[in-house]
Order: sequence, then C-alpha cells, then structure tokens
Amino acid sequence: MNRLTGKVALVTGAGRGIGAAIARAFAAEGAAVVLAELDGAAAEATAREIANGVRGAQTLAVQTDVTQPASVRAAVEAAQRAFGPVGVLVNNAGINVFADPLTMTDDDWRRCFAVDLDGVWNGCRAVLPDMVQRRAGSIINIASTHAFQIIPGCFPYPVAKHGVIGLTRALGIEYAPNNVRVNAIAPGYIETQLTHDWWNAQPDPQAARKATLDLPPMKRIGRPEEVAMTAVFLASDEAPFINASCITIDGGRTALHHE
Ligand SMILES: NC(=O)c1ccc[n+]([C@@H]2O[C@H](COP(=O)([O-])OP(=O)(O)OC[C@H]3O[C@@H](n4cnc5c(N)ncnc54)[C@H](O)[C@@H]3O)[C@@H](O)[C@H]2O)c1
Repeated sequence: MNRLTGKVALVTGAGRGIGAAIARAFAAEGAAVVLAELDGAAAEATAREIANGVRGAQTLAVQTDVTQPASVRAAVEAAQRAFGPVGVLVNNAGINVFADPLTMTDDDWRRCFAVDLDGVWNGCRAVLPDMVQRRAGSIINIASTHAFQIIPGCFPYPVAKHGVIGLTRALGIEYAPNNVRVNAIAPGYIETQLTHDWWNAQPDPQAARKATLDLPPMKRIGRPEEVAMTAVFLASDEAPFINASCITIDGGRTALHHE
C-alpha cells in the first residue's frame, strides 16, 4: 500500500462521493492529500475520517471554489506550504446541469461550464507551471460517459464533459515533452449523492433507479472506490506512458449496442 508514497495530491470536490473515495485511496497508498472542496465542513469531516481510518495519513482540508482561479491557486499554495509541490491533481469537482436546451436559462449554462469545464482548467493552470518546471506531474480529470454519448434531456452537461476530454488531450500533448501526463477518467453511473439527487428529481424515483440498474451489462452501477482505484493507477509510477488518454469505467455500458 505504498504506490503513492512521497507524492502530494490535490483532489477537488473531495468532500464526498467520488472525490472523497479518491482522497481516501490516495492516502491509503501513502500520498499526502489536500481536499479542495466548496463545502469546507464536508472537506474537514472527510479529512478527519481519512486521518482516523488510515494509519499515518497526511490530509489537509481547504475550502475551495474551483470556479474561482484565485481560490484554486490558494489551495495549491496551501498544499505546497503543508506538504511540498503538488505532483498529482485530480479535477473531480462537478455538478449536474440537465435541462432542455431551449428553455434552459443563461445562468444554468454558465453555472455548468463554470464548474464542469472552467473548474478543470483553473486546476490545471494552477499546477502546470510548477509541474512543467519540475518535469513531473500527473493530472487526472474526471469526465463522464456523457463525454462520448448523448442522453436526451441532459443538456448542457455533456457539452462541458466533451470539453473536458478536449482539454485533457490538448494539455497532454502540450506538456508531454515536460513529462507531465494529463489523462481523464470517464465514469458511467456511480452511486453517489449526485446519482440519488437525480433519481429523486424524476417523477418516479423508484422507476428511474430501476431503469438505471437495468441498462448496464453488469446490471449494477459502479462504486466510488472503483473509480478511485483507476485514479491511483494513473497517479502512480505504474502509468508512465499513459498520456492524453481516457479510461472508461462503466461496466461495458458504452460498448453495448441498443436495438
Ligand atoms: N456519480 C456519477 O454517476 C458520475 C458519473 C460520471 C461522472 N461523474 C463526475 O464525477 C465527479 C464527482 O461526482 P460525484 O458523483 O462524486 O458528485 P457529488 O455531488 O457527490 O460530489 C461532488 C463534490 O464536488 C463539490 N463541488 C461542487 N462544486 C464545487 C466547486 N465549485 N468547487 C469545489 N467543489 C465543488 C461538491 O460540494 C461535492 O462535494 C463530477 O465531476 C461528476 O460530473 C459522476
């Protein structure tokens, strides 16, 4: 359990869900972890829970809004002061904005892009100069299977997630000569509060849940820990030649042909 020993990782949106699972897995593998999260209390609680559960864990909670470049820069500086230069960044913070394109408000459009795409760029921009200078770094952007497939009624979330893949590939190519790797993970349905909120927002939450579970070939949805395991791999020295790439974690759902 020392695959990330000596590394400093910053995970956005780490207060709960997939981000919290990644922060926990990173700490268990020996990384010092900064939980950069909008909900400061959730970040503190998760950091405490990791510190209590993982022997020798080094964690720091920093209230952070990924939509604000100065806030993200402050989190990176706090990480540097506490543990040293950030070598791993996980841009995980994200929100669902699902609307009808023509009735959606301008505010919904801006809110979606501010978190789901600008937030990823703000993270990259805050860590890249130092990673480039040190010629070492792994950035992991949490995209979605919505980055490849469109589900009607989910606009504009998939547009932002397509952008995350574009940003991942562009930055991966730009900084490959500097030994900085930029990759994405595209989860399918993963059971988090976000998923429960979506089910609960449907006219028949039970039917929505059942439909979600019926669709994938494995007849289940994923667990946050299953995404975290891949994040550990991409953050580690086991993936030195994986760059500008995306790993899908959906139990095969996007490969399934629907009649
Ligand atoms: N759950 C899924 O099925 C699923 C599937 C595919 C992709 N994803 C993606 O995975 C990521 C995490 O999703 P989740 O299901 O764990 O969501 P979640 O809502 O459970 O957790 C997201 C966390 O991000 C934080 N956050 C939101 N806005 C922020 C901001 N401006 N600055 C900093 N933190 C902010 C929230 O407070 C929350 O703690 C998101 O990017 C999401 O789009 C989730």
